[in-house]
Amino acid sequence: MLELTDVCAGYDGVPVLRKVSLRVDEGSVTALLGRNGMGKTTTIRTIVGLVKADSGSIRFGGTELDPLPIHRRARLGIGYVPETRQVFPSLTVSEHLRIAARKGSDGKDAWPLERLFDVFPMLARRAKARGNQLSGGEQQILVIARALTTNPTLLLLDEPTEGLSPLIVEEIGEMITRLSHAPDPPAVLLVEQNLRFALSIADTAYILVKGEVAFQGSACDLGADTDLQHSLIGLGAA
Ligand SMILES: Nc1ncnc2c1ncn2[C@@H]1O[C@H](COP(=O)(O)OP(=O)(O)O)[C@@H](O)[C@H]1O
Ligand SMILES: [Mg+2]
Repeated sequence: MLELTDVCAGYDGVPVLRKVSLRVDEGSVTALLGRNGMGKTTTIRTIVGLVKADSGSIRFGGTELDPLPIHRRARLGIGYVPETRQVFPSLTVSEHLRIAARKGSDGKDAWPLERLFDVFPMLARRAKARGNQLSGGEQQILVIARALTTNPTLLLLDEPTEGLSPLIVEEIGEMITRLSHAPDPPAVLLVEQNLRFALSIADTAYILVKGEVAFQGSACDLGADTDLQHSLIGLGAA
């Protein structure tokens, strides 16, 4: 459903992505891994349209995204959760979700609050809590739910576990798994530095090294190959 072919992109003429090719299949969870500064966020930003690709092609459900501005890409069904969580301190959990809800992509219905509360029970319990009363983990779960309100077919998550405690990380993992086993699930492209977390929920994995794809394969194979993990992601990865 999402296919990048030889994508080059960068900032002010400084190249960051060098011929990145990757694909995300319908309903799958794909992990995009790599050390800090390797180009993971730039890849995601190029998909949503915040960074313009210099060359190569990005196709989503058969549509070439290159000429489309950010809002048109979102309307095609791309949901995006950036690294910075952007929760409004004075709005409650339900207000965040109601404000974000609009007609889904491709004429799909938006997710009703009840469905969000089913997948994310924590949000039902904290429905009346304000943004500034939420823990980091609760904020992360809220922004993931917020991105789902428009019923995207592809969900881009940029380091959802960064800075969170192991218990919350596990909870977020369970939620993503629950989400991807629900009927008609969105595909997930998950950027992570937490290798163990990513491999526990992904089907397929890519590793970026200096803006190039240095590994692509099954999450299982990568999980079993600690030498490869160490050489491409570094010590402490596993
Ligand atoms: N807004 C920007 N302007 C200039 N250079 C940037 C910008 N954002 C990122 N970079 C550079 O691009 C490279 C890749 O960054 P990034 O995609 O954020 O990596 P990652 O998400 O893998 O940590 C880094 O060298 C970083 O310094
Ligand atoms: Mg990043």
